[in-house]
Amino acid sequence: MATRPSTLPSPDSFAAEHSARLQALIAREIEAAGGWIPFDRYMELALYAPGLGYYAAGARKFGDSAAGGDFVTAPEISPLFASALAAQVAQVFEHLPARIVEFGAGSGVLARDLLAGLAARGIEVEGYSIVELSPELAARQRAVLDRRVVEWLAGPPGEFEGVMIANEVLDVMPVKAFAKRGGIVAERGVGLERDRLVLAERAAGRELSDAVAAIEAEVGPLPDGYGSEVGLAAAAWMRSAAAWLARGALLAIDYGFPRREYYHPQRLMGTLMCHYRHHAHADPLWLPGLNDITAHVDFTAMADAAHEGGLEVLGYTTQAHFLLNCGLLEQLGTDHSPQRANEAQRLLSEAEMGELFKVLAVGRGIDRHLLGFARGDRTERL
Ligand SMILES: C[S@@+](CC[C@H](N)C(=O)[O-])C[C@H]1O[C@@H](n2cnc3c(N)ncnc32)[C@H](O)[C@@H]1O
Repeated sequence: MATRPSTLPSPDSFAAEHSARLQALIAREIEAAGGWIPFDRYMELALYAPGLGYYAAGARKFGDSAAGGDFVTAPEISPLFASALAAQVAQVFEHLPARIVEFGAGSGVLARDLLAGLAARGIEVEGYSIVELSPELAARQRAVLDRRVVEWLAGPPGEFEGVMIANEVLDVMPVKAFAKRGGIVAERGVGLERDRLVLAERAAGRELSDAVAAIEAEVGPLPDGYGSEVGLAAAAWMRSAAAWLARGALLAIDYGFPRREYYHPQRLMGTLMCHYRHHAHADPLWLPGLNDITAHVDFTAMADAAHEGGLEVLGYTTQAHFLLNCGLLEQLGTDHSPQRANEAQRLLSEAEMGELFKVLAVGRGIDRHLLGFARGDRTERL
């Protein structure tokens, strides 16, 4: 894991004190656990500890840095994202109930714009449910969404028919972190050194060792010193999603790669990335609670988990291909404003979100080729 640049902006005293409280909570848990916790537990606390974690507490998160935001997501960049997605959702609704479950709805902007995009196509949804881990974000969503149309579920639905959406949700699920040391798998975690949080390694347990062995069986032996992450929680979530989805499609949109690219020998520092005021850095221990911590998604693992749950892969492609297939350029229509053109560029450009972000569609009971994957489908690379 690399360190952070020295140019990061400093938090104000209120934010620094908030992080200090979370660090104290994490330190207490480390002491209670005998001096060390695995990285996935650290990430869970840093992001979701009640009242203190990055997603559980009041950090602004989305939006530009002047407004106190740390990052922007595609639906925050432009309504073009949701209106293109509406074309895909509308196609699935041709033979399924017009119901949507959105996981991790952030500020609620995707739900708002997707409902508008569907309404513009003459589709009135039967139900739009949000499953949100963060009480703070759920409150923000309630403030912007029409409560007569949208409902919030305490947990995932059972026997759901319709479309499930998860945009940038898999990348914030806690990951196991490992390093290869002299042919052995070491698990990365967090310990304490004079009351300071420090990264520390232990011999990996069976589950992580087996997961790394399975990766090496596919991509070849990883070199000594190689470090990376394994998204066991994301894979478990995908297996569960398969159980929730009785009929329909799940669209998972996120940054990541197929397994062979993810665990490429040259990607020896892994994919952990933190965001603070639009600065990306790789020090997950810096000011927990004020930083987003993410890992890229191994889409091969997601497809495997979906298969295990009985779903089939309906398509896998880049965000650019998906949005173009869904008619994003046509939706630009007569709006030739520089702002819209700039937004489209950010969503589509290879140098921005177009190539790194992927769309994976899995599902059951869908008997037609999905519109979003008509050109540029890369399912065979998974
Ligand atoms: C990076 S934000 C993305 C928000 C939004 N989808 C967007 O694109 O702007 C991640 C969101 O996922 C939520 N989240 C994380 N794990 C989740 C889970 N297992 N179930 C539901 N929501 C989850 C977080 O609380 C947060 O709202």
